Amino acid sequence: MPPTIEYSDSVLEHFRNPQNIGEIEDADGRGEVGSPVCGDIMRITLKVDDETEVIHDIKFNTFGCGAAIASSSVLTELVKGKTIREALQITNQDVVDELGGLPSIKVHCSVLAEQAIVAALRDYYDKHPKKEMPPELAKKAQTLEEAEPQH
Ligand code: FES
Repeated sequence: MPPTIEYSDSVLEHFRNPQNIGEIEDADGRGEVGSPVCGDIMRITLKVDDETEVIHDIKFNTFGCGAAIASSSVLTELVKGKTIREALQITNQDVVDELGGLPSIKVHCSVLAEQAIVAALRDYYDKHPKKEMPPELAKKAQTLEEAEPQH
């Protein structure tokens, strides 16, 4: 029999009652990433105030495991209301901490959430070529692309 996976109360709460689920039709940025480990897919859409660069709305659609849904839910809560530069400081470890921990074989689910917000912010800058992309975004995108998610 496979080992039972123990989830924190926070993971279970976000899985049962996910926040910011859905898709923003006229999104300013849209990012979709898939995990080569398990095939799960996460899509993030967001709205950005062009003047203040505050991410004032964000939604997710995740086709995947409970930990991926809980990670997406927490990530959108952490990002909403933050500026792009503040959002870039959020890592998958922040998502794990906010969830009260994740089993090690599920940490890659939180990495997927970090990759999804980075992809959505990159898309925002692709759509706004006159805006200068923060160097930390380009760096983070490259690092996350190179990272091999592990189970
Ligand atoms: S995202 Fe792969 S098992 Fe959760």
